[in-house]
Amino acid sequence: MNAQTLTETARALVAGDKGLLAMDESNPTCNKRFATLGIPQTVEARRAYRELIVTTPNLGECISGAILYDETIRQQKKDGTPFVKVLTDAGIILGIKVDAGAKDLAGHPGEKITEGLDGLRERLAEYSKMGARFAKWRAVITVGDGIPSRGCIKANAQALARYAALCQEAGLVPVVEPEVLMDGGHTLERCREVTEDVLRTVFNQLYTQRVMLEGMILKPNMVVPGLTCPKQETVDEVADATVRCFLRAVPAAVPVIAFLSGGQPAELASARLNAMNVRFKARLPWALAFSFSRAIQQPALEIWRGEEAHVAAAQKALYHRALCNLAARRGEYSAAMERT
Ligand code: 13P
Repeated sequence: MNAQTLTETARALVAGDKGLLAMDESNPTCNKRFATLGIPQTVEARRAYRELIVTTPNLGECISGAILYDETIRQQKKDGTPFVKVLTDAGIILGIKVDAGAKDLAGHPGEKITEGLDGLRERLAEYSKMGARFAKWRAVITVGDGIPSRGCIKANAQALARYAALCQEAGLVPVVEPEVLMDGGHTLERCREVTEDVLRTVFNQLYTQRVMLEGMILKPNMVVPGLTCPKQETVDEVADATVRCFLRAVPAAVPVIAFLSGGQPAELASARLNAMNVRFKARLPWALAFSFSRAIQQPALEIWRGEEAHVAAAQKALYHRALCNLAARRGEYSAAMERT
């Protein structure tokens, strides 16, 4: 097995208090975000936006790895330089989203199963040749009346574990992402209960499929109240509930927990990650890091709006969010950083 390679890649992705930048939006998701801002939904607009991201000055100071999408890993700068080279030259490790998206789970109204296992071994070999050293697979768990069901949790956990085993066979570090969605009016306590259940099931399946925990990254949601829940806990309360849940369910051999942002406002995501590190860092077995998409990209996208003239300002905003999250890993983030 590639145990040493896997452990080294996982360690490199955690080093220097850096984090991951998820820029692996599928074309439909990217188009949806463009549409809300009146940006054309074309291949060229997506390429130009991704060029903006990968050429952000000094991005490699805060970002250890970038997760790309199939279209993106094959794209180039306007001058023909492949994005793969731009990122590698910036010291950023290449990752790739390899799932084929979440589809309706038969017999389970309102629930999803992530597809993409068929042919995955061959696709991983191709991405590895292209320079990818880690991969991502996202499972989606919806909280609602009577859901998630056991069938949904188990099917998604098993798919995650089979994907993770295939990644490790190919020498790629799997980013294992079971996302309990924030949508809905459920309480923080309900999110904690579901997240703990999901994590326990995922680690059970990872064990069953012989995944080496030292050579993987867990990318979960934070434990937060539903978006429309009337009671919204404080930053410290969210930090406490999240860490308590993960201490119960995540084995100490996992090197890093890199949170997704899940649609939280960018500053709040930084504040919550910071609070976890301020309050618990010294006594946790794993590093607490970030693997944000929206909480790093959204402010930059809103500045860019498809205009060449806004590129520099958008890059500044992107770098700023990456820097705030680096500080949050160190427990050194403060609201004052947002005013600089
Ligand atoms: P968000 O940080 O926007 O939740 O995206 C993370 C991600 O990679 C979702 O799969």
